[in-house]
Amino acid sequence: MSESSENTGAQRPEGAGSPERPAAPRQPAGASGGSGLRKEAARAAELDAAGPLTATRDRFVLDEDTVYLDGNSLGALPRSVPGRIADVITREWGELRIRSWTESGWWTAPERVGDRIAPIVGAAPGRVVVGDSTSVNIFKAVVGGIRMAGKGCTEILVDATTFPTDGYIARSAARMAGLAVRPVEPARIADEVTERTALALVNHVDYRTGELNDLPGITAALHSAGALAVWDLCHSAGALPVGLDAHGVDLAVGCTYKYLNGGPGSPAYLYIRESLQERFESPLPGWNSHADPFGMDPGYTPAGGILRGRVGTPDILSLLALEAALEIWDGVSIEEVRTKSLALTDFFLECVNEYAPPGRVRSVTPYEHRRRGSQVSLESVGAGEVMEELIRRGVVGDFRRPDVLRFGFTPLYTTFADAERAAWVLGEVLREQADRDTAADAGTATAAVPPAEGPVAGGDGG
Ligand SMILES: Cc1ncc(COP(=O)(O)O)c(C=O)c1O
Repeated sequence: MSESSENTGAQRPEGAGSPERPAAPRQPAGASGGSGLRKEAARAAELDAAGPLTATRDRFVLDEDTVYLDGNSLGALPRSVPGRIADVITREWGELRIRSWTESGWWTAPERVGDRIAPIVGAAPGRVVVGDSTSVNIFKAVVGGIRMAGKGCTEILVDATTFPTDGYIARSAARMAGLAVRPVEPARIADEVTERTALALVNHVDYRTGELNDLPGITAALHSAGALAVWDLCHSAGALPVGLDAHGVDLAVGCTYKYLNGGPGSPAYLYIRESLQERFESPLPGWNSHADPFGMDPGYTPAGGILRGRVGTPDILSLLALEAALEIWDGVSIEEVRTKSLALTDFFLECVNEYAPPGRVRSVTPYEHRRRGSQVSLESVGAGEVMEELIRRGVVGDFRRPDVLRFGFTPLYTTFADAERAAWVLGEVLREQADRDTAADAGTATAAVPPAEGPVAGGDGG
């Protein structure tokens, strides 16, 4: 397989990063669009100068030649991580060896790191535990939720647009419990939930479209029917306020390698509402969640509180890399992150509108702020090739089959200049694509994406 056919348009697993080829030389950030400084580039410079969260960018390893808009898949490396990991390896592991389980706080790291994530997702201490993958935590949450559901429940609901692993695991969990699974669009859950529904598993932000689902409204509707609300926060945690405690969410899971910048394969987390913790029965009752883990009792007695979410020996290197990455959040509020995220995605949409030739891309990300996460997804003809070309020119996003270009905005390090440059390069690539189509077939062959209703960034910005 040739390099280009292997490298099919940055289609990589979530979190597995993007194929960053060496960037082609690009014009300096000064961004001259042929006739002096581009208007939008000048605006970007003003917004960056005025904007919040400008200092946090320096706390990440990023290069000047690349616009990195794939933090919704794999967050950039925080500068605090390499030194911390070097210390964990050379001193804590190399010198202290087994003593580090106590002396370096390894044993309690899952709860300690959970408490660092807690304020970011709107939870009090003692409600979040870190460990295992998101997929494994979905299994714990769904089976644990089914076990807490009222007798007489016959089904669970699953977000019909879910990231696939959630659906696979929910089906398996339901099969084990003898329940049916009903896929339902998030917007329909309030109408579809019945007294026979044990729980619904819903994505807070749709990984493909970037749509933000109504967590407070859906949670309340589930509760009024007596069902539990289980949320997947992979694409919202660290990008926008979640308010788990405030909205009475029952169970939630999320990964830490996207907006929390924990690194490839960094451990996920499980949230259990405080009032449910003593009823939570893990389907994976490993020795780490035993009330007396070193008692080596053949019988299982669950620990109290959030410790029930633990399973086996934690992945210390990844967990402590994540802990170091979370230092960036000291003094940063999720509300200011959200404000900047919306400003960045608004500005990117405006720039795409300005630079992209008509009819070549269409935003599938809702324009209304209350329905938008922190990514912009654009439908485009030949999205795979378009993203390949963007990456070659130093703009790294990714694409999801069949036709979606995804651009993730991480307010801790993405600048308005990044947004403008990405839109400019996208415009260039799309213009060249349109010219090729015109030359090939008098402008009609490669059908452009059906024209959007109005401009790509239509709407009123509300
Ligand atoms: C929304 C969502 N849920 C679940 C997962 C699966 O996570 P993991 O591979 O860590 O189990 C992902 C991965 O990116 C995701 O985006």
